[in-house]
Amino acid sequence: GSIVEFIAGLPKAELHVHLEGTLEAELKFRLAARNAVDLPYADVDAMRASYVYHDLPSFLAIFYEGSFVLHREEDFRDLVYAYLEKVAGQNVVYAEMFFDPQQHTDRGIPFSVMIEGLTRGRIEAERDFGIRSQLIMCFVRERSAESAMAVFEMALPYKHLIVGLGLDSDEKDNPPEKFAEIFRRGREEGFRLTMHCDVDQKNTHEHIRQAIEEIGVERIDHGANLLDRPELIAMAGERGLFFTVCPYANEMMRPGERQSIARGMLDRGLRLTLNLDDPAYMEGKYINENMLMVHELAGFEREDLLTVTRNAFDAAWIDEDLRRELH
Ligand code: HPA
Ligand code: ZN
Repeated sequence: GSIVEFIAGLPKAELHVHLEGTLEAELKFRLAARNAVDLPYADVDAMRASYVYHDLPSFLAIFYEGSFVLHREEDFRDLVYAYLEKVAGQNVVYAEMFFDPQQHTDRGIPFSVMIEGLTRGRIEAERDFGIRSQLIMCFVRERSAESAMAVFEMALPYKHLIVGLGLDSDEKDNPPEKFAEIFRRGREEGFRLTMHCDVDQKNTHEHIRQAIEEIGVERIDHGANLLDRPELIAMAGERGLFFTVCPYANEMMRPGERQSIARGMLDRGLRLTLNLDDPAYMEGKYINENMLMVHELAGFEREDLLTVTRNAFDAAWIDEDLRRELH
């Protein structure tokens, strides 16, 4: 069969997707109507045409504006359900999904509304499509450590519904160590830990070192600039860290990059996984399209795609029985 058929047929796991970044324009219009939110776009094409950005801050501005249509429990349910339905159709059998509570609590949405809607969407998608999933709560890193601690406390009554903690949004001048106390408490409470170290950020190598040595993450989301430093590569190798790389996001942020990040990690034996990031804002590319892109641009062959798929199941925060059942 063709490579397209091979990719489509692989049972897959995803570990790096921002739920707010899966909000496709059609659903955004439906939720805006439901909640009487005025959108400054005539139709979905005009909305999609407005998704123009060139770096992390310009992307984030568009991404945050999009989430303003999310208000009710059913909106959060519909968001998760639509994403899981879509990816189940690409033979994804397991997904870990980021959500950013501060985006919503700052707008007056109760934590309970958000988490109950997200959880209902997960349960209904498993019932209807067989897909398993878990939630990772991310802190918005340009906000204060106090704000992150406040949302951490709100999450504690729901910690059985949240598998891990992450850190995302604007990295510049917001290093991992700013959140050291929260991640220390998070570990004590039993959360698994990951963090974004986005591409080409200020002090990127120091951020990667802090995430590994001071925070003790099990994964790094992106982490591309580690490839510049042999000592960081060695550290990641020794600790068996996993990397969640997002090919299409890299292509959007650094056009012409030709997937040298994915290729570089694979060639150095790092435990690379392939993921989506924010598909609704990245031309609707889901996992099959991301895999095809590294095949076409970086020469990932079938055995390489099997390796990254195995890595994703190995990196998943699930017990060994479920791991064997899924993979
Ligand atoms: N990086 C940081 N924060 C984000 C991203 C990203 O790629 N997507 C959504 N929030
Ligand atoms: Zn991300």
